Amino acid sequence: MLSAIAIVLAYLLGSVSSAILVSHALRLPDPRTSGSRNPGATNVLRTGGRTAALITLLGDVAKGWLPVFIVLQWTDLPGWAAGAVGLAAFLGHVLPVYYRFQGGKGVATALGVLLALNPLVALLSALTWLAVAAIWRYSSLAALVAAGAAPLYLAFAPGEPDFWIVTLVAVMALILFIRHDENIRRLMRGEESRIGEKKKPAS
Ligand code: G3P
Repeated sequence: MLSAIAIVLAYLLGSVSSAILVSHALRLPDPRTSGSRNPGATNVLRTGGRTAALITLLGDVAKGWLPVFIVLQWTDLPGWAAGAVGLAAFLGHVLPVYYRFQGGKGVATALGVLLALNPLVALLSALTWLAVAAIWRYSSLAALVAAGAAPLYLAFAPGEPDFWIVTLVAVMALILFIRHDENIRRLMRGEESRIGEKKKPAS
């Protein structure tokens, strides 16, 4: 029963969109109708600049981290419940109940979930994102490579890997790939915007 309550609360928290709230509060264009039309930090960087993007990033990371951290630190719920709570927060971001289930791609929220599950794996994933972004300057490509690597980092991290947590992180990575379908097509056509680029060709 406690697991079910935690999963629902995590989903409701994950449904809160930092990009939309921050853009609204700072009177910036709605990220759902500007730039790539994705309510996430990368697009807020295009539509509102660095400070707004940083706040968005922190907000989206926090909503993934907080529910998993609470379950792990303050409850006796098993490992699978922590993974399920993380997946629920991630799904809240991707399919938010408050915005007609039109959400973002889940990169920052997935990082927050990883941060609570395994800080070392989160750090390796973030470094992977940074390395790919530094070389090619595509946020989407960096996210795809980091998401693909995260379940492997988790599986080979020190200590006994929790089967359910590795599986749930792999599911998160799969959903993240599916949410980047337009980015993948743009990358293959050579039309993807690089980080910080204002304009993006219509797809
Ligand atoms: O975090 C989302 C990023 O991977 C892609 O965002 O706005 O370029 O579609 P965007």
